[in-house]
Amino acid sequence: MAMYSRIIGTGSYLPEKILTNLDLESMVDTSDEWIQTRTGIKQRHIAAPDQMASDLALAASRNAIQAAGIQASDIDLVIVATTTPDMIFPSTACILQNKLGIVSSPAFDVQAVCSGFIYALATADMFVSTGKSRNALVVGSEVYSRIMDWNDRSTCVLFGDGAGAVVLTRDQKPGILSSHLHADGSYSQVLSAPASIHSGKIQGTPFITMEGGTVFKFAVKVLEEAALEALQANDLQPSDIDWLIPHQANIRIITSTAKKLGIPEEKVVATVAQHGNTSAASVPLALDQAVRDGRIQPDQNVVLEGVGGGFTWGSVLVRW
Ligand code: ACO
Repeated sequence: MAMYSRIIGTGSYLPEKILTNLDLESMVDTSDEWIQTRTGIKQRHIAAPDQMASDLALAASRNAIQAAGIQASDIDLVIVATTTPDMIFPSTACILQNKLGIVSSPAFDVQAVCSGFIYALATADMFVSTGKSRNALVVGSEVYSRIMDWNDRSTCVLFGDGAGAVVLTRDQKPGILSSHLHADGSYSQVLSAPASIHSGKIQGTPFITMEGGTVFKFAVKVLEEAALEALQANDLQPSDIDWLIPHQANIRIITSTAKKLGIPEEKVVATVAQHGNTSAASVPLALDQAVRDGRIQPDQNVVLEGVGGGFTWGSVLVRW
């Protein structure tokens, strides 16, 4: 009998501090009006100086585990998607595993930038649906405020901090119906934080650099393709999608994608106004919001999709 992985709990966490567009007006030469019309972002959350990606991940994970109605000790796989890990090593997943008081389960990080959660969920699905793991914790957690150049108005207005998590369990009932992952490393210079460490010194800039226009066009193109690929694999039409949850980078990218797919705005979950772009955390944050406010209901088709640095992109289609 075919077995599936099912999402049985979602959780999220946003740091207390909110940075509004008005706050940014006093930091760089920008305006609330520019940020809202170009990106749809109104505010973003910023982690406290002592909060690391694993701390945000821990809070989101506890919420997801509680919603799933299981104990942390029932988790036998931990995957964290992050671009802003606590340290070079050990992985943020190992640090999170320890904070959760779990021992011996496999724990590792996935680095696929803004597609990280999609990559992590697809990976966990392979462990769970094949019986290698019973209950997987999949987290996207980011502290992008640490890799922002706060003097660069072209990037610092776009990002925020946060974490989202899901618990996957093995079940006869779907579940994750399909996942599709892609990458094209020839775009690596277009969106990067191109620093490396040599003999204890940082070489290159550790801040985000990007060609915004190129990223915008590529994102709209592949978000449409990724959704269509998911639908085709399951013999579904755009009208069969109950909820589209794309990566939350820019409201114009989200609405252009939905328009190209012919999906009405009411079926698109958008949190970018409140959260900004939280990279690997953006999809699970939006998912948790739509689950907790009751929008997502049993047996609905939910398309999760991401695009990010690499470039990387992909989708996961879930029957809720
Ligand atoms: N405030 C005011 N003016 C600004 C700001 C700012 N914060 N940033 C840039 N500008 C200026 C520019 O200097 C430029 O001025 P100029 O015409 O005098 O040269 C003008 O605004 C227009 O800039 P554009 O880059 O053409 O603006 P655009 O409408 O393309 O919007 C944006 C820029 C928002 C970055 C857009 O290209 C975008 O969202 N791209 C996608 C990037 C993205 O999502 N990155 C996230 C990471 S990737 C991911 O998650 C997939």
